[in-house]
Amino acid sequence: MKAYRASLLHFKGRDAVFEQDGLLVAGPNTQGRQVVQAIGSFQSLRSSYPDLPVEHLPGRIIAPGFVDMHIHFPQTDVMGLPADGLLPWLKNHTFPEEKRFAAPEYCAQAATFFIAELLRNGVTTALTFATSHRQSVDALLGEARKQSLRMVAGKVLMDQNAPDGLRDETKQSLVDTEALINKWHGIDRLGYAITPRFVPTSSAAQLQGAGVLAAKYPDVWIQSHVAENKDEIAWVKRLYPKARSYLSVYEQFGLLRPKAVYAHCIHIDDDDRALMRSTGTAAAVSPTSNLFLGSGYFDYRAADQAGFSYGLASDVGGGTSFSPFHTMLAAYYVGREGATKPGLSIKPQQLWWQHTAGAAQAMGLAGVVGNLQPGCEADFVIVNPQATPLLARKAARANNLDELLFALITLGDDRLIEKTVISQQLC
Ligand code: GUN
Ligand code: ZN
Repeated sequence: MKAYRASLLHFKGRDAVFEQDGLLVAGPNTQGRQVVQAIGSFQSLRSSYPDLPVEHLPGRIIAPGFVDMHIHFPQTDVMGLPADGLLPWLKNHTFPEEKRFAAPEYCAQAATFFIAELLRNGVTTALTFATSHRQSVDALLGEARKQSLRMVAGKVLMDQNAPDGLRDETKQSLVDTEALINKWHGIDRLGYAITPRFVPTSSAAQLQGAGVLAAKYPDVWIQSHVAENKDEIAWVKRLYPKARSYLSVYEQFGLLRPKAVYAHCIHIDDDDRALMRSTGTAAAVSPTSNLFLGSGYFDYRAADQAGFSYGLASDVGGGTSFSPFHTMLAAYYVGREGATKPGLSIKPQQLWWQHTAGAAQAMGLAGVVGNLQPGCEADFVIVNPQATPLLARKAARANNLDELLFALITLGDDRLIEKTVISQQLC
């Protein structure tokens, strides 16, 4: 057991709870995994744990580790390469880089860097695309396991409209996917996601095979992209002229269900939103990527009206930052731009929720990660609001929690994360 005394930020429902002088007690659950045992004010809790050593962190805020709902491990080196939209960006920058992951040594060094970068930025859970090479999944999940990280990942399925060296073969890709599910899903804190890249790069046979695997393994995740870019949507329309919408193609193949997460969901209509809700499918909102690639704006108001789940994602390397602070700030901009009616301004507590407890809920991990309620795995960040002179000045002047959180979101980056603490398997 271990206790931390600091300010604490956590969530009750969608609302933030802030304990100025708090105590967080972490210790093993019945499986020996380090979880939150108690959280509350220092004064009220200390007497219940009189002999427990307490690490005192004055001036620091302990908050849940961030959950990144959509990120590409092989695209670290694609970040910041501009293009005239998604399709030329994929062809000219992304696919050539992803080809390099045929080499296990290349995968290994990229995995080490990628996971270190997640941790430096306070991200403790991620739903991640690997490449179409199975060795890329082995490298990533092997490294995540070494670091005790909660990581869900999958081999990309792409058997058409992709270059040599990246294109996989339909039957073998499904055999490989099933082998990877059996190898990795449920091992320690790891999960597997069936990962068709997007409709244009998978044949109908591959999408159908993915759907068969999804039905056979209801506990694994599904991840893909949908309705990100107008040219992409026109391409899908040519491939499936009779489909009601792009999203409905995934439905046709049995790829919408709980634990299915689709990045972007920008150019969708209310029927699609109702379909997301009725199938329990979630959206990974990727605002820095959408702004960088000029894709468009996620419509928060329409999403909330329809009532489907969503959370925030970096979408590195279309995304421009590993930092959840940058993603939350971009989401704030998008919340206003994408609104069907003007005036929507997402509150900072809501932005933070979307990148922690909300994202965990959308992934089917509510009560497991993304929050600090008792029973949650003890993944958290120690935030230093004095990390830069400007942050220190703004934090000192904050009149309430909203002002403090907005200052952190607007001015923050990896420098705010003093330490990332990962739940350990204790026995
Ligand atoms: N659509 C298909 N592949 C990708 C990708 O790698 N990144 C983004 N942003 N969209 C995609
Ligand atoms: Zn993506």
